[in-house]
Amino acid sequence: MIRTVGVVGAGQMGSGIAEVCAAGADVVLVDLDRAAVDAGLQRIRRSLDGAVRRGRVTEEEAAARLGRIAPATDVTALAGANLVIEAVVESLQVKQDLFGRLGDIVAPTAVLASNTSSLPIAAIGRGSTHPERVLGLHFFNPPPALDLVELTPTLVTDPALADAVQGFFTDGLGRTVIRSQDRAGFIVNALLVPYLLSAVRMLENGIATREDIDTGMQRGCGHPMGPLRLLDLIGLDTMVFVADGLYAEWRDPAASAPAMLRRMVDAGLLGRKSGRGFYDYTEH
Ligand code: NAI
Repeated sequence: MIRTVGVVGAGQMGSGIAEVCAAGADVVLVDLDRAAVDAGLQRIRRSLDGAVRRGRVTEEEAAARLGRIAPATDVTALAGANLVIEAVVESLQVKQDLFGRLGDIVAPTAVLASNTSSLPIAAIGRGSTHPERVLGLHFFNPPPALDLVELTPTLVTDPALADAVQGFFTDGLGRTVIRSQDRAGFIVNALLVPYLLSAVRMLENGIATREDIDTGMQRGCGHPMGPLRLLDLIGLDTMVFVADGLYAEWRDPAASAPAMLRRMVDAGLLGRKSGRGFYDYTEH
């Protein structure tokens, strides 16, 4: 039974994961200092206000969810958690150190999960004294809106724990869970990233305009957004980072970031967040 979820890292992803979990459990949200935790709580408040405005949750339910999230600045506050999900910076060392520390703090039955997009779950688990309790739980940005969770057991994860976590997210929280082996990209990024990089190569080779590439996939395949607009939304620097992670494991040219993408990042064209990427957002 998962009654208390600890979330470490109150950034973009951690705050969203805390909000999602608060629909069915008590949550302890930890970051390095009070300012970071408060920023996370603020993000959750804004997100819940939006959900109330759109009629997705009642005002009472939103207040109840917020009330179930306890802020903390030290991982010792996670002693009572049955499941801890880390969403700290994408650094193997930081994640291993964190899981090492958590081993002395949480109950011997608690599950330790990582929201990493690119690091091997087994390598993160090596930091733990109980690697059989470690698994991947990969959420999508923003977690309250995108209901998918990719669950990744490693070669040594206890299958019963993986089943219990899956049940919590499907039956307890109404989320969609898919399972993948512990391979770079899991399911979604393994399919999505080569596709997005192909769109950049198509533009780079002068085969079509950015508008026609995007219109092609929107109107021909029913995608809500074309690949170049989607890249601008994800962030071109993030895409280079993810592609490099996939290429390091696959050695497949389909996962290698085209020079055009790297040069755009070098020039500070990172997509929406910097105002310009494949498209210009400064005038909208
Ligand atoms: P972020 O930079 O918004 O948040 C990270 C937070 O972790 C910061 O508030 C930071 O202060 C905190 N932190 C760092 N070290 C810590 C520690 N030792 N203890 C407690 N808190 C610590 O990053 P974001 O985007 O939320 O990413 C977090 C994780 O989620 C990364 O592993 C990333 O790869 C993964 N992820 C990110 C997605 C995205 O679209 N941004 C999508 C899916 C996964």
